[in-house]
Amino acid sequence: MKLGVIGLGHVGLVTAVCFAEKGFEVIGMDKDKKRIQNLMNKKLPFYEPGLSELLEKNFNRLKFTDSIKEIIENVDVVFLCVGTPPLPDGSADLSQVEDASREIAKNLNKYLLIVEKSTVPVKTAEWIKKVMSLYVKKDIPFEVASNPEFLREGSAIKDFLEPDRIVVGIESDKAKNIFEEIYKDFKAPIIFTDIETAEIIKHASNAFLATKISFINMIADLCERTGADVIKVAEAMGFDKRIGREFLNAGIGYGGSCFPKDVKAFYRIGEELGLDFSLLKCVDKINEERVNKFIEKIKKILWIIRDKVFAVWGLSFKPGTDDVREAPSLKIVRKIIEEGGICRVYDPYAMENFKREFGESERIYYAEDIYDACRNAHAILILTEWNEFKKADFSKIKEMMETAIIVDGRNCLNMEKICKLEFIYIPTGRKGCGY
Ligand code: UDX
Repeated sequence: MKLGVIGLGHVGLVTAVCFAEKGFEVIGMDKDKKRIQNLMNKKLPFYEPGLSELLEKNFNRLKFTDSIKEIIENVDVVFLCVGTPPLPDGSADLSQVEDASREIAKNLNKYLLIVEKSTVPVKTAEWIKKVMSLYVKKDIPFEVASNPEFLREGSAIKDFLEPDRIVVGIESDKAKNIFEEIYKDFKAPIIFTDIETAEIIKHASNAFLATKISFINMIADLCERTGADVIKVAEAMGFDKRIGREFLNAGIGYGGSCFPKDVKAFYRIGEELGLDFSLLKCVDKINEERVNKFIEKIKKILWIIRDKVFAVWGLSFKPGTDDVREAPSLKIVRKIIEEGGICRVYDPYAMENFKREFGESERIYYAEDIYDACRNAHAILILTEWNEFKKADFSKIKEMMETAIIVDGRNCLNMEKICKLEFIYIPTGRKGCGY
């Protein structure tokens, strides 16, 4: 069986390379000619731990093209991994899905199984079928299925190859057999459902995880007001198997290409169907407010931001990736600059993407390393919990700073150690020291 992947972003490229790792011949297609050229030269468009090595290892089973005709004529199953970005009203922009469906239909010459892998609203498969029927030549059979992807950036390969579960929405035994063949070497349970159920599972999972994060952030605010410790609260809650400890880390909120977009889109779906999904509106609002709350903390210590220097540690929306999409860092740095502050930013991987996304500003200095970022700084702002930050030489850092203040938006430092060095340390949702 030959597999095709359309759309070589984070999900698409990991899907293509991992299926090749499982022994399949895979053709990856993307409209971006430069991306295809680079991939042919084994150059990846983003950083993902281990992906480069896996691409190298399986290169003989992988082909890359910008031609839809080439892919459709040569594969038995095609995974749709195109982008579904948000529209201004929060709903998903499905124009890339429609475009790909139309192009697939026009080039179809034998049976093909078209699989949605991108996160899409429920009933998207039905639209794909409708659009395909409009353009496909008479009597050429095709089917649509849903096989949502749950991989996380930074641990994408492990998540793909060793998933907790595989969800497959299908309409026929033929499609079921195809998926059984595709996933025969995976150890995870396969949950077969109808297509709508599979589509909802993906949105519901992401919305639920985002809800967990906003919930613990709400509790973090309560802890700050009352002198309690959110880390202990999360730990103790997490021992309850029904709750679980994961995704209860309080901080400056969730970012990335999925949660912010998916929560808004899922809320819109509920609204369009006349349902009260206001729970998700609150999840989104709590998340949006995290940035202002973080800025307030800085002001509580320094009073005025104008002309203060901030060492910004971490720009990516989480560690293990160079992705800054919807990263809280973009909003925090922008607010500081708007108020006349200066940011000396550093991230081990995301500097280029941040520069591109943020644009030029005289008030941003791109530092060589964490120490360079701290020169004459009034405060360190930790926005991503990279491991190297935890191992920094804080005695050296203290000497370099104008005032020794750390605002830890990810609760990633060892509080005891930092407080012993007499920093003013302001964590999230717990008592710090020196203030
Ligand atoms: C997410 C889902 O986890 C994945 O299943 C889906 O396929 C895509 O969306 P991803 O966006 O790569 O994956 O990152 P994830 O690790 O889920 O983190 C998302 C955001 O939540 C990050 O900004 C992270 O910092 C934040 N987060 C996560 C918290 O603030 N607290 C937590 O406890 C966990």
